[in-house]
Amino acid sequence: MTIRYIDEIDLAGKRAFVRADFNVPLKNGAITDATRIEAALPTVRYAIANGARVVLASHLGRPKGASDPKLSLRPVAAQLTALLRLEVKLAPDCVGAEVEQLVGSLERGQALLLENLRFHPEEEKNDPAFARQLAALADVYVNDAFGAAHRAHASTEGMARLVPLRAAGFLMKKEVEALSKITGHPERPLAAILGGAKVSDKIKVIEHLLTKVNTLLIGGAMAYTFLRARGEHTGDSLVEDDRVEVARQVLARAEDLGVVLRLPTDHLVSTALDGSAPAEVVTMIPGGKKGVDIGPATVALYREEIAKARTIFWNGPMGIFEVDAFSKGTMAIADALADSAALTVVGGGDSIAALARSGRSSDITHISTGGGASLEFLEGRVLPGLAVLES
Ligand code: 3PG
Repeated sequence: MTIRYIDEIDLAGKRAFVRADFNVPLKNGAITDATRIEAALPTVRYAIANGARVVLASHLGRPKGASDPKLSLRPVAAQLTALLRLEVKLAPDCVGAEVEQLVGSLERGQALLLENLRFHPEEEKNDPAFARQLAALADVYVNDAFGAAHRAHASTEGMARLVPLRAAGFLMKKEVEALSKITGHPERPLAAILGGAKVSDKIKVIEHLLTKVNTLLIGGAMAYTFLRARGEHTGDSLVEDDRVEVARQVLARAEDLGVVLRLPTDHLVSTALDGSAPAEVVTMIPGGKKGVDIGPATVALYREEIAKARTIFWNGPMGIFEVDAFSKGTMAIADALADSAALTVVGGGDSIAALARSGRSSDITHISTGGGASLEFLEGRVLPGLAVLES
């Protein structure tokens, strides 16, 4: 796939429409984690420094096609202003006469942030007329929103077709390069650690990664569906009955392919998921108890496998890590990755939060800003936001 990057096009004096993923977590109107904004700065700074008239656009949350003051990009404009040390005004909307006039009055090196694209239902519908309205604001289209590249929306796909000059930003480049190291020609052994609640959420990525990895370590509640498929006791743990057969097929396929697939060998169990009841470590989950984390023997086993790997991908917690008493397994995996000399790539909000909590984020080679996008990339799917940039 040939993609042109922002530093390969002339931006001077041009209206550069930069689609970013500023979908950041908010609490009481304040940004609680600005990682995604910071990750887009190299592209924004480059456009500004190269004399573009910068039009920034993003979605925020899921306002369902209607204007919602709680999901305004106003806090993002303030954060950008502080980080860039340059005033970034917020437009009252993302399309329309007033927006066109504001974009028209931008000087070289100035930036304007459009209001939440998803205040218009046409954005998610990839409506052609809406895409045309967005495209009318751009001489150059730059997509740096890796986190939204799996969405074929007007701002990520439709408008890109309508602007003659299109390119990817630096974050998009970094993400694609890092994730391609997993799917391309990784240094081996390649290990994937997959956790989270449901097999159904991860089955496609598991199936695709099985053909790539040497080792697959499974944790989180989805491990119980696999354990049931192996005929083991799962007590009252969360098991997706309708996925047991799929899990059985995955286990058989792993064996055929010679993939080392590990499941937890011991478990932290409790009667309550919120930490209000005592927990104990068991090797066989008894009736009435639910698995809430991997046990210490599993941690040791997974640590050993992680230490052997030269390339590692991690997505999904090993247990209910939000509850302190059930967080040991997930935190140990975060530490094991951080301690490893391998190329390490982490995707997904929960694993990233666990890493942040361990204070070891800087010891990871690449932390993806895309949750769904990184998983779809690793499923081997074509991301519409990337495909449209191919020349
Ligand atoms: C994300 O948070 O994964 C991206 O910003 C995409 O958001 P969405 O899942 O609401 O499309």
